[in-house]
Amino acid sequence: MIQFDKITKVFEDGTKALNNISLSIPAEALVAIIGPSGCGKTTLMKMINRLEVPTSGEVYVAGKAVSSVDAVELRKTIGYVIQRIGLFPHMSIERNVSLVPNLKGWPKDKTYGRIYELMQMVGLDPAQYLSKYPLELSGGQQQRIGVVRALAGNPEIVLMDEPFSALDPISREQLQIETKKIQKKLKKTIVFVTHDMDEALKIADIIVLMRNGQIEQIGTPTEIIETPINHFVKNFIGIERINRKRSVGKRMLDEFTSFFEQDEQSSYLVVDASTLVEEAIALLENEGTKKLLVKKGNKELGFVNQSILLRAILAKEEVS
Ligand SMILES: Nc1ncnc2c1ncn2[C@@H]1O[C@H](COP(=O)(O)OP(=O)(O)OP(=O)(O)O)[C@@H](O)[C@H]1O
Ligand SMILES: [Mg+2]
Repeated sequence: MIQFDKITKVFEDGTKALNNISLSIPAEALVAIIGPSGCGKTTLMKMINRLEVPTSGEVYVAGKAVSSVDAVELRKTIGYVIQRIGLFPHMSIERNVSLVPNLKGWPKDKTYGRIYELMQMVGLDPAQYLSKYPLELSGGQQQRIGVVRALAGNPEIVLMDEPFSALDPISREQLQIETKKIQKKLKKTIVFVTHDMDEALKIADIIVLMRNGQIEQIGTPTEIIETPINHFVKNFIGIERINRKRSVGKRMLDEFTSFFEQDEQSSYLVVDASTLVEEAIALLENEGTKKLLVKKGNKELGFVNQSILLRAILAKEEVS
């Protein structure tokens, strides 16, 4: 759906921001781009809607080279949420979120219906908030409106550049969960830049870890946790963080949704659904077994392995 083909970017002052990046982002996936400050995340993202132009290489969206598409037309089909440049302060919330639908010439009732639905999805009552102005809203509420605005024109693709980094942990977590739900429900392709590994592990289908204008590793959250390819990736995941979270000790297996079917006939242990996830991990480690069969009474719920359990702990909240 989005393809980067050998993208290099050298700025006028000689800074090499991206070095020969090739990457495919599948449709309907949420891809988190993560890496240290200055590694090129924003530059890479901006190539998708042509806010930056590569020095060499080409970006394709839905099979079309973006250099061959009119930039304004392109941007109507791609939502964009950024952290700092927020909403237009002199426009009501309703006008802010109607910008793209109006550009697209949608009839009023279609625009209103769409906005109404999105406002409800992010937990803001349209009747109460549409007539307000941005400065009358809290930071978290403004950020939610930013998400509504990006989705209002029904774009296939939404770009989000550290959208929640200025928020308190609770608003941040709520918005992460809402973003994930919206992605699944509305089947959007979301490219999400963050420097926070917890955030990436929680919401991403695929994580792209960058350093110095290059990709260090691409993988699912499970792959990144289970098989970090080098020391840099390991450090970035923060093994000590995984260990710290393990001691939280609240989640039980019976709240769980990620099970798999019996695959091969390898050995397993049986645990009750009331077992804590942390205990289950310890059991796997101590017994040298690869999987556990989780039972609730006589009912077999399914199998879990270490990576499923680790993800549950890192995710804290299941996003369904
Ligand atoms: N217009 C520009 N001119 C010159 N150098 C630039 C320009 N924009 C970005 N850079 C440089 O390119 C590199 C990549 O910048 P970019 O903004 O993509 O990083 P980032 O990964 O998004 O960082 P952060 O996490 O801090 O937002 C940095 O070294 C930055 O200083
Ligand atoms: Mg950036």
